[in-house]
Amino acid sequence: MCGIAGYIGDKSASKILFEMLKRLEYRGYDSAGIACLSDDSVVVFKNKGTVDKVMKESGYEAITSKIGIAHTRWATHGEPSKENAHPHCDSKGEFIVAHNGIIENYRDLKAELMERGHRFESQTDTEVIPHLISELYVDSFEEAFREAVKRLRGSFAVVVLSAKEPDRILIARKDSPLIVGLGDSEKFIASDTPAVLPYTKRVLILDDFDYGIVTKDHVTIKDLQTGEEITKKVHEIEWDIKQAEKEGFTHFMLKEIFEESEAVKNAVKALPDIEKIAKKLKNYKRIYFLGCGTASHAGFVGKYLLERFSIPSELVLGSEFRYSTVNTIDKDCAIIAVSQSGETADTLASVKDARERGAYVVSIVNVVGSTLTRVSDDIIYTYSGPEIAVASTKAYVGQLTSITLLSLYLAKELQRISADYLDEIIDDIHSLPDKIGQILGNEEEVKGLAEKLFDKKIFFYIGRRLNYPTALEGALKIKEIAYVHAEAYPAGELKHGPLALLEEGVPVVAINPNDDLLEKMDSNIQEAKARNASIIVVGENGALKTPVIDPILSPILYIVPLHLLAYHIAVLRKLDPDKPRNLAKSVTVE
Ligand code: M6R
Repeated sequence: MCGIAGYIGDKSASKILFEMLKRLEYRGYDSAGIACLSDDSVVVFKNKGTVDKVMKESGYEAITSKIGIAHTRWATHGEPSKENAHPHCDSKGEFIVAHNGIIENYRDLKAELMERGHRFESQTDTEVIPHLISELYVDSFEEAFREAVKRLRGSFAVVVLSAKEPDRILIARKDSPLIVGLGDSEKFIASDTPAVLPYTKRVLILDDFDYGIVTKDHVTIKDLQTGEEITKKVHEIEWDIKQAEKEGFTHFMLKEIFEESEAVKNAVKALPDIEKIAKKLKNYKRIYFLGCGTASHAGFVGKYLLERFSIPSELVLGSEFRYSTVNTIDKDCAIIAVSQSGETADTLASVKDARERGAYVVSIVNVVGSTLTRVSDDIIYTYSGPEIAVASTKAYVGQLTSITLLSLYLAKELQRISADYLDEIIDDIHSLPDKIGQILGNEEEVKGLAEKLFDKKIFFYIGRRLNYPTALEGALKIKEIAYVHAEAYPAGELKHGPLALLEEGVPVVAINPNDDLLEKMDSNIQEAKARNASIIVVGENGALKTPVIDPILSPILYIVPLHLLAYHIAVLRKLDPDKPRNLAKSVTVE
């Protein structure tokens, strides 16, 4: 939610900031802005609209400054508008701030500052920050910044410029990600690694309550409370710049669907960690999968898998966990938190609460070094590479692979399956990348189906057991990128109410693996057919044809045609699947 960027060095700041914002646009795209220091004065340009639109309007190429900050917004406080776009300044225009997060005590701070004569121009929470710095300024930018940040409650990653000390950018973080890319005589500040990848692979990752002074040659990180300097480890980013580019694909989403074979192979690389973690997990009495959105669907598959091996398990949603389930958590519980970004606020807050109650927390995460990895006892990386499209696709396939492996190894530890059975399934997992490749090879057929369906007003997705989450995920994809109303149901539930919505031509996508529930699914399909619904079967003999696979691996395979279907329907509806309206990739607010 919101991307922030900063640059200081010898090159044109505005050009670099524009490129950085483009790579952060997945975090929010309703307005954008840039502020640069030029000849000891500040140039600010901001407006409603995409990064491309706003930067073109700004004539950024003519700005010659070598230091600046920038922002791409996902509105929380105040509608998308020029006034509410970042960066924000104090009344005298001396301190300029870009912020990601929510300042929870902004109303109190604003009232106090207004009493002292500060004039506000936006409805945002952020605007209190530059005013507060200005109010507290005596003769040191750093001291005023630190004192101001200490008074903020809520979540923040902030970058601040001041014409008073034009050789530095000040930064701070709490509960919102912030990194500093290290170049020779230049530094890059960003919410996420893809923004700095073209320039450097060496980064410092800020922790909560860190603040920093960034000049072109040095980065000093200090503790917000004590003011003492902290030594930070320099991380080497392993991602390749190409992974964060479209490489000839029309959209990131399509490219990322085509990386799903690779996502399986990459997730398998964590097998040594998975084996170790399974040995620890077997000691816990209750196991909860935790996540939001797509990640929760991956966790839901995990719950069904563990139950399949007679291991009790629950799925809990990040946004619900801390208001109810947490009361039941103690040291006998293990939490398996699933997240692509590792920055989802609801998931992070739940994990923190669970750990306070003594639970063991394992995270299944894609982004290396993300906040979730820092608050977990153990980590299983999915190694899916950067996922830029807002809709999660390859990361889901990676999560399913990790969860399946973890469930199998835990089942073996608890002697619910034999070593031979485990070997057999592992062989099948190794066959998945080729089988995903076969599905992707049928893209034209999926596109043909999309052409028949793209103007339908409502879709139903049905599945049973392990593939009920597949139905949920298929429906979520078409909702979020194609803006089509979609309902997902366990197939057996149709007759308990939703069947009333079925009429001629309503598409019902039935996820139908070749397992012991095949006949039951067939009956549910007949129920829909009898109401003249259009049935689209995903399975070995379906319109969305899938190769033969052991049913316990079917969620990994069967989601692939559903990703393609949603993508093509969105494109046919003339929508940008990479940037669905109202959404952002990392949801860093609760
Ligand atoms: O980064 P996370 O996996 O924690 O994100 C969780 C959800 O916000 C995310 O999966 C969301 O539902 C996607 N837009 C789904 O495509």
